[in-house]
Amino acid sequence: MTLPEGPCVFEPLRDQDKKAFSCGVRELDDYLYLQASKDSQRKVAAPFVMLDRGGWILGYYTLSSYGINASELPPDVVKKLPRYPLLPATMLGPLAVSSSQRGKKLGRLLLMDALHRSWKNTLQVVSVGVIAEAYDDSARPFYLHHEFVPLADHPRMVFLAMRTIEKSPA
Ligand SMILES: CC(C)(COP(=O)(O)OP(=O)(O)OC[C@H]1O[C@@H](n2cnc3c(N)ncnc32)[C@H](O)[C@@H]1OP(=O)(O)O)[C@@H](O)C(=O)NCCC(=O)NCCS
Repeated sequence: MTLPEGPCVFEPLRDQDKKAFSCGVRELDDYLYLQASKDSQRKVAAPFVMLDRGGWILGYYTLSSYGINASELPPDVVKKLPRYPLLPATMLGPLAVSSSQRGKKLGRLLLMDALHRSWKNTLQVVSVGVIAEAYDDSARPFYLHHEFVPLADHPRMVFLAMRTIEKSPA
């Protein structure tokens, strides 16, 4: 997988101005303001931000490790995997774009960066795929639009196989 050059810069969350960001969803804004840095310090989640050339946050997402029961994965994915009860996966946590920047393909760019980073990480720590958790039912179609498939027993979770990400041109 290759990532196209874009107008934005991606960095780990550090001391960028978090309060200037708003995606319009209270829970996701609060997560960035109050929790993301703590999760990073405690090694619970790795937050990444998308910045414009002036250093303002345009969007963010988090990545962490996850274990998934084979029975929860789609049958066509499981049949190509060994019968281990628990399989390694990558969790894509909250993902959000500034409400002032909607519809400019920044959400797609943010997702592509998350998938590219997840795939690069498998060179060191493997993962059968990326699981994304939508914060509510209205957010799930964004992932389904980008080839994720629903996970059994988890109405808000979706899955994209690492083999699919690896083969993706961008
Ligand atoms: C969902 C979100 C990230 C999309 O960001 P965006 O920059 O407006 O979206 P983009 O312009 O990159 O859209 C890329 C594609 O996804 C589609 N898309 C965008 N939002 C969508 C949604 N909610 N449902 C289905 N498809 C969606 C677009 O139509 C576009 O399709 P196309 O490439 O075929 O033309 C943004 O609306 C957001 O931050 N929402 C609040 C938080 C949220 O829902 N996060 C997601 C799950 S936690």
